[in-house]
Parts: sequence; structure tokens; C-alpha cells
Amino acid sequence: MAAPSIYGLSRRGLLGASLALAACQPQARSQPVPALPPLKSLAPFRVGTAVQAVHLNDPALAGLIAAQVSQLTPEWEMKMEYMLRDDGGLRFDAPDAIAAFARAHGLALFGHTLIWYAQSSPAFERLDESRVSFAGAYRNYIHAVMGRYRGVAVGWDVVNEPIAEDGEGWRDSLWSQRLGAFEHIADAYRHAREADPGAALFINDYNLESIPKKRASFLRLVERLLRAGVPLDGVGTQTHIDADLAPGELTRTLGELAQFGLPVHVSEFDVSIRRAGGLLRQRGDLQRAQAALYAEAAEAFMSLPARQRFAFSFWGLRDSESWLLREDGADTPLPFDAAGRPKAAARAWAERVG
Ligand code: G3I
Repeated sequence: MAAPSIYGLSRRGLLGASLALAACQPQARSQPVPALPPLKSLAPFRVGTAVQAVHLNDPALAGLIAAQVSQLTPEWEMKMEYMLRDDGGLRFDAPDAIAAFARAHGLALFGHTLIWYAQSSPAFERLDESRVSFAGAYRNYIHAVMGRYRGVAVGWDVVNEPIAEDGEGWRDSLWSQRLGAFEHIADAYRHAREADPGAALFINDYNLESIPKKRASFLRLVERLLRAGVPLDGVGTQTHIDADLAPGELTRTLGELAQFGLPVHVSEFDVSIRRAGGLLRQRGDLQRAQAALYAEAAEAFMSLPARQRFAFSFWGLRDSESWLLREDGADTPLPFDAAGRPKAAARAWAERVG
């Protein structure tokens, strides 16, 4: 079968090759019994984590993932930066490995993310439109990627971070410039629905709990998409928060996001200790504040109607793998420490989901 490309997919390519699942990952060695029951055994909803293919080669981490969660979000290897080559070709080795691990361990796979202002590619930027239109390549990309995981991925962040940083309007991007500010978003969902009718199509953003103006803009966009009949199935709030976030902001945010009756995905949860620049200074205070925010997040999510609790995903499980360590190696934002032991924050979360 010809290698898939955004420059013209064979019909078979468009139909979406069935996933050639890589050999199942080696059975991860069992983890020492955690002092806390596995998070997914306590929650009446899917519990997720971000993951990289390289993590699956670490038996301790792979075992912790398999034991603790019921859903995986590829942290970066289902994004354009990994899959789309400059010549328009696509590579799927890493996302296939993550999909194979999910399948081998009975975990759901959540696709992240198809269209993002932060990532484009020379394959689009220098497109020879005499051969393939930009709009055609845009559709081909969504079909090629979603088609490969058709019937495998339970959902997708179709468009990620559409709202401007300060909440004033929408992001400017190659996609909005070439296809229209609203239309590039609406078309992405229309293509996604065609590509995999069984996948839940989400829109996802961050700082919705800390910037009310951004939350309001996000909600207005959701409402406009729904009024336009765009096939949008759910809303994702990344929830990368700092330990000094005021109590109640998380609860208010989830309540407002639930107003459309759509499933809500807490999609990238972590609570930074080091970014907390507020009044809390002592590490002990910050850790207590972190545990309180883990508890509030669990309570707020549990207060949603069951049909609106899509999943609660952490952006990693062990502190040692957090993206935040690139900014400050001393940050400890996740539910488990570097040794895979549950922290006070994990216990605070677990006590409120049961
Ligand atoms: O693993 C490769 C390494 O082999 C290579 O040498 C190196 C140099 O290019 O790149 C490494 O891959 C990096 C990857 O993270 C794994 O560390 C990519 O360059 C880098 O772009 C990627 O960053 C990810 C980032 O999104 C951009 O995709 C982060 O892991 C990921 O945590 C972050 O996640 C985002 C969400 O998608 C959206 N919400 C915010 C969140 C945090 O920024």
C-alpha cells in the first residue's frame, strides 16, 4: 500500500488502513503494591495520563501506567511535529506503539492533537497548490491520521488552544490565515466526523480557570460551533494550574464548561509547586495547597452528571516525567513521585472520587 501522504491519498489510504499494531509491548513487571489502590479502580470514570513511546520501554513506568490508568493521551507523538514529514509523508511508528500498548492493556486511546496553532509544517507552508490545494491537504491530513486509528481512538482533541493567550479573540495561525478564522475550526470537525464517526470530537484549551476572559471566549466559541451545527462532542480543559490558584476557581470553571451538556475532559491535569509565585512560600505549604487543589478538582469533576464525566487525565504520572521539569527541575506537579509512590495529592484526589 502506498505510504500515506497529505498530498493525495489513495482511496485505500483514505479509507484508513487498519492499524498494524506493533507487537505487544513486553509485559511490564508488576509494580510493588501501591499503598493506595490504583486510581482507576477508585474512580467511576476513565482516568488518563499523557505518555511517550519511550516511556513504554521503562518497565517500572509502563507498569505504573498499566496499573493506574484506563486511558492514554500521546504527549507529542500524535502531533504534526512528530507524524508529518517535510515532504508531506507521515510516520506512525511511535503512535502505533502507544496504541499497541493501550490495546494490550485494555486502555482507551485519546488522540492529541490534530490542529494546533503552535504547530504547522513545511509540508503545508510550501505546498504546491497546482497539485494539491491547501484545503485538500488539510482534509487529507485529518483523514490520514484519524483513519489510521479509526475505531481505536475513543476521542480526539481536534482543535487545540483556539483562544488567544489573554482571552481576547482567537489565535492567529497558518490554519486561520489560509482557511479562515472560524472556518478552519469548523471544517476540522467536519473532516474529523467523516474520518471516524465513532470518535468523540473535543475542543481543548488551558488557563480557563485562571483567566475568566479566556474561559468566556472559549465558551462563546463552543456555543457558536454548536449553533452552526458543527459536530463537536466535548470540551477539554487542560488544567495546568499553579499551587496558589484560588480555591473555588476549578469548581467554577467545570461548572461553566458543563453548561452545554457536553462531556467534559480534564485533559492535562498537573499542579505546579514552583510556578506558584503567590503568598505561599514554604514547600510544605505549597504541597498542602497542591493536595487541596487535587481534592477540589476531584470533587468538582465528581459533581458533574455522570454522562458528562468523559475522563480525568493527568499530564503524566511520575514527577520525573513532567514537562514542567524543563522549566524547573525541582517541580513536583504529578500524583506520583519519581519512584512511583503516590503522594499526598494523589491520596487527596482518591478520597474524593470514590
Ligand atoms: O524525544 C525527542 C528527542 O529524541 C529529541 O532529541 C528532542 C529534540 O528535538 O525532541 C524530543 O521530543 C520532544 C518531546 O516533547 C519529548 O520530550 C519534542 O521536541 C517536544 O516538542 C515535545 O514537547 C511537547 C510539547 O507539548 C510540544 O508538543 C511536550 O512533551 C508536551 O508535554 C507538551 O504538551 C502540551 C500539550 O500538547 C498542549 N497543552 C500544553 C502542554 C504542555 O506544553
